[in-house]
Amino acid sequence: MKDKIEEILKYVKSAIETVQTSAEAQALRVEILGKNGKLTELFRFMKQVPAEERQAMGQLLNNAKNEADMIISAKETFLSDSELNEKLMKEKIDVTLDLNEDEIGALHPVTLDFMRIAEILTGMGFSQIDGPEIEYDKYNFELVNVPKDHPSRDMQDSLYITPEILMRTQTSNTQPRAMENIRPPFKVFTFGRVFRKDDIDATHTPAFYQLEGIYVDKKVGLADLKHDLSLILKKYLGESTKTKFRASYFPFTEPSVEVDAECNICKGKGCPACNGAGQYEILGAGMIHPHVLEMNGIDPNIYSGYAFGFGFDRFPKMRYKIPNAKVMFENDIRFLKQFK
Ligand code: PHE
Repeated sequence: MKDKIEEILKYVKSAIETVQTSAEAQALRVEILGKNGKLTELFRFMKQVPAEERQAMGQLLNNAKNEADMIISAKETFLSDSELNEKLMKEKIDVTLDLNEDEIGALHPVTLDFMRIAEILTGMGFSQIDGPEIEYDKYNFELVNVPKDHPSRDMQDSLYITPEILMRTQTSNTQPRAMENIRPPFKVFTFGRVFRKDDIDATHTPAFYQLEGIYVDKKVGLADLKHDLSLILKKYLGESTKTKFRASYFPFTEPSVEVDAECNICKGKGCPACNGAGQYEILGAGMIHPHVLEMNGIDPNIYSGYAFGFGFDRFPKMRYKIPNAKVMFENDIRFLKQFK
C-alpha cells in the first residue's frame, strides 16, 4: 500500500507538468481525489491493513491526499488567474473610442415640452417647486379636503405602500406642501410623475405626468384664473387651438372648472388618441377651497387663490402626434431617437 501511495504521488507530480488549462487541472483532481479517484480508492483498502499498521498507514494516506491536493490546487489557481487575465485583456473596452454622433442621447418629448411650458410660466411670475412622488396620505388627500372615506377618493385609484403612505395620485400634494413652506403671496408650479392603478391602453398608463400651478394672493378671483389659463394655453398650444372651459368638481377647489382642447391629431373628427371624442380633457382647475387654505394655515378672509393641474403627457402626445401613451414610458431607443 505504501508503494501504491508513492506511485500515485509520483504520477501526480509528473502529470501536473503537462497540465495546460484549469480544466485539465480539474480533471486531474477528479482522477486522483474524486469520488472514485486513485487516492480515494485506497481508503477503501484500509480495512485490509493489519490493525497495528492501520494508524500509521492512515496518516500516510491522509498526508498524501493533502499533498496531492496542494499540488493540483496551486496549478489550478495559477491557471485560472492567468486565463481570467487573458480574457480581460481580450475583452477590454476602449473607453476613448470615438462615438458616432448619431448615438448621442436626446431629451424625452415630455422633458422637451415641460421646458417650453416652464419658460411660459416663469415669464408670468411663477417659480418652480418640487414635491415627493412617495407621499403621505395627509398631503395627497387630507389637506386638500379629501378626508378618509370621502367618496371622491374613488376618483383616483391609489397605489398605497402603507395605510399612511402612497404613490402620489396627483401633483396637488404640492398645494399643502407649498402652503406649509411659503407665506402668501406666492405663485408656484411643479411638474412630475403621479401614479394610479390603471390598465394600459392608448390613453392610460399607471404612471403619468402632471403639471400643477398654484397662485395665492389677496383678491385672486375666477377672472384671474380664466385669464391666466387662457394665456398659458394660447402661448403653449398655439393661438389657433380651440379650448373650452366647463364647470366641474374637485374637492379642493370651489368653483371648479375643466378645460378641453381640440385634438390636433384628428382636428376634432375623433381618433384613437382622443378616444374618438375629437377633443382632450386637458386640465382641471378652480379657486382653492377656503377650507384648504384654512387647514394649511392661510386665512381665507384675507387670501384667496387658484390652482390648476394638467395631465401633462397629453401635450407631447398632441404636439408630436403620438397615438399611444405607452411609448412614452418604454424608453425604446427608436422612439426617443425621433426627438433630436
Ligand atoms: N389634481 C386634479 C387631478 O388630478 C387636478 C386639479 C388640480 C384640479 C388643481 C383642480 C386644481 O385630477
